[in-house]
Amino acid sequence: MTLRLFVSRDAAAIAVGAHRLVRELTRAAEALGVDIDIIRNGSRGMLWLEPLVEVEVAGVRYGFGPVEPGDIAPLVAAGLFDPARVAVIAHPKALGPADKIPYFARQTRLTFARCGITDPIDLPDYLAHGGYLGLQRALSLGPDAIVAEVTRSGLRGRGGAGFPTGIKWKTVASTPPQQKYIVCNADEGDSGTFADRMIMEGDPFVLIEGMTIAGIAVGATKGYIYCRSEYLHAIAALNEAIDVARAAGLLGPRVAASPYAFDLEVRMGAGAYVCGEETALLDSLEGKRGMVRAKPPLPAHKGLFGRPTVINNVLSLAAVPFILAEGAQAYADYGVGRSRGTMPIQLAGNIRYGGLYETAFGLSLGELVDEIGGGTASGRPVKAVQVGGPLGAYFPRALFDTAFDYEAFAARDGLIGHAGIVVFDDTADMAKQARFAFEFCAIESCGKCTPCRIGSTRGAETLDKIMAGVDVGANMEIVTDLCHTMKLGSLCALGGFTPYPVMSAITHFPDDFVPARPLMAAE
Ligand SMILES: Cc1cc2nc3c(=O)[nH]c(=O)nc-3n(C[C@H](O)[C@H](O)[C@H](O)COP(=O)(O)O)c2cc1C
Ligand code: SF4
Repeated sequence: MTLRLFVSRDAAAIAVGAHRLVRELTRAAEALGVDIDIIRNGSRGMLWLEPLVEVEVAGVRYGFGPVEPGDIAPLVAAGLFDPARVAVIAHPKALGPADKIPYFARQTRLTFARCGITDPIDLPDYLAHGGYLGLQRALSLGPDAIVAEVTRSGLRGRGGAGFPTGIKWKTVASTPPQQKYIVCNADEGDSGTFADRMIMEGDPFVLIEGMTIAGIAVGATKGYIYCRSEYLHAIAALNEAIDVARAAGLLGPRVAASPYAFDLEVRMGAGAYVCGEETALLDSLEGKRGMVRAKPPLPAHKGLFGRPTVINNVLSLAAVPFILAEGAQAYADYGVGRSRGTMPIQLAGNIRYGGLYETAFGLSLGELVDEIGGGTASGRPVKAVQVGGPLGAYFPRALFDTAFDYEAFAARDGLIGHAGIVVFDDTADMAKQARFAFEFCAIESCGKCTPCRIGSTRGAETLDKIMAGVDVGANMEIVTDLCHTMKLGSLCALGGFTPYPVMSAITHFPDDFVPARPLMAAE
């Protein structure tokens, strides 16, 4: 009998030796004459346990991790390849049933339901785990009812702005029939974020299905996935899955034998943070340098090649198959206030249990960082948490009661963004972090508007003076004034939101901006 093992093909697992481990496991099995089949699944998201090896016995997958090559011989001697002994192996790397590990078991996985479970490119496996039920129901409903269903679910854009997805779709659907497009924003530029990458590598069919449903809903026949250039594994997985879906008739001139046509292409990003901004992304997709476009016109009216275009983040589109398959209410039942459904939260930075944690909106920041994330990896006290990427605010421990919900974060001058949480311990210098925000903006600015292009450089220079103790009071006023100008005068959120990390660092960590020995301007 063939013994089934699972080792992730996720880039994070590969980075810590998953490929090598597969080679060594294969060699060990061959040497013993044991028949094994190693399935390269996506990651379950417990990144500190990668490479995670799972061995399936009677439908239960027993986890071992993080497995290093040196662990293989003792694990095999203890019974890794012996179905009768796998469940009772006593070894420091033995974790018991993988789906019972509390970090995994406590999640509500709607979007990531299959990630880490299935073989990402195996269509029958996808179908066996509820795949394409969303499309099936969508086809039975028709375009208007699909849009209504997505609207009722309360789904808001997961790329950062939190705009209601159903309203965006309705706007495109309401434009006169013509060539329309679905564009998936897979640029994933925010620091500490990796959920888009994980789902594209670990369950690409869910994104393909979501985009197909979006196409049918708004009358678009063509979709593009704009994927950041660093994501080579994701691009490969998507291309493989698209070929499989097309061969199965799930993409092409008659999607699943319906009258609807829809097809997809993956395009590699240009490597600029600003190309994640939707209008700069469109320029880049059109082969131009990524520059932010003034709105109106909205992309929904005049988007890619001047045609009505839905632009959605990977996670927004990947949430759609569940919403259609299970119904809007099943999704809306999760969450709090106007933040409905679940959010795949990414725990990163100096954190003990870093990884992906999908849960309903509403947990407090403290629960996420301390209980789920286990505090810092360094073991030192948490000093600050940046939420929402490089344009997100720094939260001190005093604000750890903030609920993970769009409005609760906005009420505290923060943003959820793409739900990346980056943890810093007490060695972090928040003045340096504030300077970094300006510097990042200066490097990544598209240069179209003055507050962002000039303000970011002046901001970094002024913070240098503050950190050197030059005229601290007056220079603090200049930074505050600059932030005000950038917030109100920038064309897009790159310049407009850079004040969040800067001002939150100043407000919550004022001591870091007091130099040891203040100097006067003349010194
Ligand atoms: C500077 C900047 C960078 C952005 N980067 C991304 C990104 O990498 N991925 C993303 O989905 N949205 C990004 N956005 C947000 C997009 O402009 C847009 O709101 C999003 O793609 C819409 O999709 P959604 O409604 O599904 O969130 C960025 C915005 C700005 C201003
Ligand atoms: S805010 Fe910055 S990135 Fe955005 S349009 Fe202006 S210059 Fe370009």
